[in-house]
Amino acid sequence: MIMKFPEQLLFMKNRKAVQKHSDESMNGKLCVVSGATSGVGYETIKKLAAGKANIVMLVRNENKAKAVKEEIEKKHSVFVDYFIADFSDLKQVKKAVLEISEKYPRVDVLINSAGLYSTKRIVNEEGYEMVFCVNHLATFLITKLLMNKLIESSPSRIIQVNSEGHRFNGLNVDDLNWEKRTYTGLRSYGASKTAQLLTVWKFAQELKGTGVTINAMHPGGVRTNIGNNNGRLYRWFLHHITWHFLKDPKISGEAIYYLASASELNNVSGVFFNLTIKEKPAKHALNTKKQEEIWNKSLEMTGLIKKDG
Ligand SMILES: NC(=O)c1ccc[n+]([C@@H]2O[C@H](COP(=O)([O-])OP(=O)(O)OC[C@H]3O[C@@H](n4cnc5c(N)ncnc54)[C@H](OP(=O)(O)O)[C@@H]3O)[C@@H](O)[C@H]2O)c1
Repeated sequence: MIMKFPEQLLFMKNRKAVQKHSDESMNGKLCVVSGATSGVGYETIKKLAAGKANIVMLVRNENKAKAVKEEIEKKHSVFVDYFIADFSDLKQVKKAVLEISEKYPRVDVLINSAGLYSTKRIVNEEGYEMVFCVNHLATFLITKLLMNKLIESSPSRIIQVNSEGHRFNGLNVDDLNWEKRTYTGLRSYGASKTAQLLTVWKFAQELKGTGVTINAMHPGGVRTNIGNNNGRLYRWFLHHITWHFLKDPKISGEAIYYLASASELNNVSGVFFNLTIKEKPAKHALNTKKQEEIWNKSLEMTGLIKKDG
């Protein structure tokens, strides 16, 4: 008897699926990649450079950026540039993206990989909860600010590095900064990734007919630095227990390269991929009412439109 997996649980099966690959060249393409100094983002730019793409890193640590630039330019005949912004400060994000936009006449691929997981609620100067700000608001702002450039450069692609962690949900549009509810790391992470997914569907609708595609992806459960900002007990568990179940982050780089380059995806937009496999996200991440609400809140919180009142 063949067992049929319930659709919403297919992500468990997809973990083990045979992945797709692309050997198509990215020669001459300009890719803007956030979080490129570590983990998924770092593996992604190594793969992009091997595919002959030029790289613009949008990162927070200048020393790391210099080292990565030097390493990649030594190995590949591409150029690597970097711009600095801490994503917990949206003013820095805006400034860096406008500088990128001014310096580069075209952007072929935007990959938003920067992200964090925090067991503690931390708020920034504006009162925004840090995980929501870095994982969702900053990537939303980058995507919005680079939109016209991507349209002018079309065909072009946007890839939001999301997570199966969106399934933890936690999104409450009336309490995005966790002032009214008990904060947990899993739920705040789930909220940030759910918000990002909801905006991906809306971006895809807005971009229809422009030649720009936008997709979200889960980069696999992989050994990176995510979570290292947390307390000793969390880190002990991460490195002694969780790591045994995680994979080499090279698989994330491979998958993102496929999503960025494969011509079979030329017209594919508004899709969630588990690595390279199309997958149905959790039901709460498909809620159209929430989609509108989070879109408007994101515009307000990033300062792209004025807050009511
Ligand atoms: N690892 C997994 O199993 C997994 C699973 C699902 C989804 N993801 C997603 O994959 C993405 C990449 O995470 P990762 O696993 O590669 O973790 P990682 O190794 O910790 O890399 C995260 C990147 O984000 C940057 N970053 C963190 N906070 C930032 C801030 N305030 N401002 C600017 N940049 C900041 C980090 O910069 P520094 O190098 O300066 O620290 C780093 O480059 C995230 O969106 C994460 O949610 C990962």
